[in-house]
Amino acid sequence: MSGRDVAAPDFYTYAWEPIVSVERDGCFLTIGWADGMTLRAFDLWLRENAVGAGGVDPATREGLFDPAELTDDIAIESATVDDGGALRIRWALDGADATYHPGWLRHVAQGRHHPGSWIPSMSPWTSSTMSDLPTHDGSQVLGDDETFAAWLNDMFRFGVSRLRGCPVDADFNVSLAARIGAVRDTNFGAHWDVKADVSLAGDALTNSTANTNRRLGPHTDLPTRETPPGFQFLHCIANEAGGGFSTMADGAAVVEALRAEHPEHYEALTTLRWVFFNRGPGIDHRWSAPMIDLGVEGAPLTLRAFYPVRGFPDMEPDDMPRAYAAMACFSRLADSDRFKLASAFVPGDVVGFDNRRILHGRDAFESGGHRHLRGFYIDHDDVRSTVRVANRRLDQTSPTSVS
Ligand code: OGA
Ligand code: ZN
Repeated sequence: MSGRDVAAPDFYTYAWEPIVSVERDGCFLTIGWADGMTLRAFDLWLRENAVGAGGVDPATREGLFDPAELTDDIAIESATVDDGGALRIRWALDGADATYHPGWLRHVAQGRHHPGSWIPSMSPWTSSTMSDLPTHDGSQVLGDDETFAAWLNDMFRFGVSRLRGCPVDADFNVSLAARIGAVRDTNFGAHWDVKADVSLAGDALTNSTANTNRRLGPHTDLPTRETPPGFQFLHCIANEAGGGFSTMADGAAVVEALRAEHPEHYEALTTLRWVFFNRGPGIDHRWSAPMIDLGVEGAPLTLRAFYPVRGFPDMEPDDMPRAYAAMACFSRLADSDRFKLASAFVPGDVVGFDNRRILHGRDAFESGGHRHLRGFYIDHDDVRSTVRVANRRLDQTSPTSVS
């Protein structure tokens, strides 16, 4: 078998990065490369990742060992570097031979197997560091992998990224969603409309404040859910209304300012809980959580902020005055020119944003006219998978700095 035929335990193509040494130390191997990089690998983990030698199924590239079978008698009989620079292991218990792709081992040594890999890290912004939303060519997004990846990468960096020049038909919403991943359905439907036939004469009966003439202050959608939707996509099909500018503020930057400048409000909003609920006929979605949910390490920030669906303070009465004061301060910051960018939706725009990080809103309408946005949600997991695949694919054709 030539070195390059060695299958990795996944479906990616790895550059061949020959190893130059392997040393045994009890149940560990220390695997070394010419530039001095090393990987200390545990024997049972190596056994689990042996492709075609009982560890990983070559068809599914999924692991086959039930943990109950992973016992100490699965020991390494011998470990060597073969002529091509791959790792070869003979296993004592069953005499199985396994060959490991050295490029795959190296990506583990480099930490590129972690969930944050292949996804740009977050770059918080304010209106003084970003004057307009990052914008990409919507006419290219379905067919061109680079445009698609660049648009999604900016959604991870800045939390928001716009496509301009997309088709204005309602079906585009469905094609774009299909390119990204599984749509997160809700009681508003998988693809939902924000429609204002802005007569300014009064509000017709509707299922949401969004479908009225009113201003929508800085918010995140569906804080009523245990896990609010990760990304939100708003496609503008028509906008003949005056006013109604869309607003975006980076919640990550607002939270940081609150922590630095108003620590008592930060403490209140990260600990005191509120019950959010969607109160539709036949609908009773509720969740109780702090407005600023920092999550556990590595998990994304989740802001829960939408007064139309904030129901009850879920805290001791004595905490309510400071909870309300903190919330007012947070909303004023998010709505201030220091953090907020305002822009009109142009037909053919799609604005994608992290619904748990970005505080989005809409100014009140000033004059009549038809306005139609069509939206959908896709959870973080699905967008992350898509962006990793897109970035890894582009990296194989022309290595980029995305890591
Ligand atoms: C919403 C919303 C924004 C807009 O429907 O939740 O934020 O510009 N709409 O209408
Ligand atoms: Zn909204």
